[in-house]
Amino acid sequence: MLRSILIYLSKASWARTIVTKWKISWKAASRFVAGEKQEDAIRVIRELNAKGINATLDHLGENVTSMEEARAATQEIINMLDRIDKTGVIAGVSIKLSQIGVLLDEEFCVENLRKILEKAKSHGNFVRIDMEDSPYTDVTLKLFRQMRQEGFAETVGIVIQAYLYRSEDDIRKLGEEGARVRLCKGAYNESSKVAFPKKADVDKNYDLLTSLMLDKSKELGTKISDDGRIPPLSAIATHDEKRIAFAKDYAKKIGLSKESMEFQMLFGIRRDIQSRLTEEGYPVRVYVPYGTEWYPYFVRRLAERPANLGFFLSNLVKK
Ligand code: FDA
Repeated sequence: MLRSILIYLSKASWARTIVTKWKISWKAASRFVAGEKQEDAIRVIRELNAKGINATLDHLGENVTSMEEARAATQEIINMLDRIDKTGVIAGVSIKLSQIGVLLDEEFCVENLRKILEKAKSHGNFVRIDMEDSPYTDVTLKLFRQMRQEGFAETVGIVIQAYLYRSEDDIRKLGEEGARVRLCKGAYNESSKVAFPKKADVDKNYDLLTSLMLDKSKELGTKISDDGRIPPLSAIATHDEKRIAFAKDYAKKIGLSKESMEFQMLFGIRRDIQSRLTEEGYPVRVYVPYGTEWYPYFVRRLAERPANLGFFLSNLVKK
């Protein structure tokens, strides 16, 4: 219930206007967001790299309502890819299709996506397309596949959400295609018509999908690139210790090497696990968001853990 309300608020412009005015909101959000500028994110990535952790850089923004905004976001992502190359940090990039215009015009979005992938390819880098709400799953997969066919198979990856019933089928198909997949639980409000309502079922499905992905990784034998920028086929994106333990045990059981999988986590969450996995020799990638459009991302993080909301509200009252 609380989760649903928060996810609704993450999309409500009236709530954004109120919450972003409070100074305390940015203070709370900055636990999860590297900063408002590109240099803030690069600084954070350097710190992560120094600890042996790779990154994926995300310029915050979603559901843009004008072509101008979508063009500006595309340009910022292209600049980011140049900046990563120039600074030599070990990072790829994550993007959202709703940030580059998919809700406005599909062909316009494709043009923007193509420009981003051309830049990434020219730098030998990698772009992961985040997965948004279920009305956009089909179009996201469609444009991802179109880009793979256009010559960006090594440059682009996708995300699959374990809470959706359809995901087992999607994972099997993507496995056959040799696609690079990040598996997460899913962060949006979805109806029980399309998604498992119970957390226990999501977790069970997460383990099943992990096993399917790791089997495919074993069969195809791909590894993370030497420079750490191109991830392996299977990326396990969760902070859930049980899911992580399952993935490690399953990989051991089938004899999959550590470099053939990667664990991914969000900036500011479970740094202890990030360090532990790195020490154990697993590739770890942290998702580092930055930018002024932090409101929806921040509220989704509150929705994931009620304790975060309690902390935020108690600080608001103390103000
Ligand atoms: P779960 O929610 O069960 O949490 C397990 C434990 O992790 C908690 O007990 C707590 O210790 C810790 N934890 C989790 N969230 C926390 C928080 N906000 N604050 C503090 N502690 C927290 N989703 C999506 O729909 N599309 C996408 O493209 C992506 N992309 C993505 C990339 C990466 C790298 C990650 C790690 C996650 C995503 N997600 C996502 C988000 C994902 O779907 C999910 O909402 C969060 O990862 C939280 O779920 P967990 O798997 O961590 O499990």
